Amino acid sequence: MLSSNRNSKYKSFFMKTELTFSMIKPDAVERHITGKINAMIEEAGFSIVAQKLIRITYEQAQKFYDVHKEKPFYADLCKYISSGAVVVQVLKKENAIADYRKLMGATNPEQAEEGTIRKKYAISIDQNSIHGSDAPETAQREISFFFSDIELVGC
Ligand code: CDP
Ligand code: MG
Repeated sequence: MLSSNRNSKYKSFFMKTELTFSMIKPDAVERHITGKINAMIEEAGFSIVAQKLIRITYEQAQKFYDVHKEKPFYADLCKYISSGAVVVQVLKKENAIADYRKLMGATNPEQAEEGTIRKKYAISIDQNSIHGSDAPETAQREISFFFSDIELVGC
């Protein structure tokens, strides 16, 4: 039987430092809560290793959300994400991809758990304040969509 000490050794053996991509969406930038969201991110143990405030075009939003192009909400989503400034970020932590999805909470804020960013700040399922990568391949694609290697500080 594994002692709890051995369990934690196995846990740290399998957990690796990862980068994930995050976007603070227009509804949150507009409400001036990017600082509050960043505080939640940092308090949860993530390092912000790259960050910029930008505005993306409808065409860039279409490309970014390409995976959803068949979904009924695709056009509205692209319109919304290009409707105002967004903060794009790269976050670093052990197990960053899964842990950031947990910190974000469910897509629909009504179903998001207490203590999550979406529970606290999201307005609705479409204006849900935050985006985070859902898998290692997605994280890599999304980071390089917005950042070049020299912009990733402290990696
Ligand atoms: O962002 P997340 O990965 O949690 O959800 P998604 O299923 O990948 O959907 C991407 C984004 O599309 C969501 O964050 C919402 O902004 C939007 N969406 C929407 O407007 N209506 C839905 N029924 C589902 C998603
Ligand atoms: Mg998604």
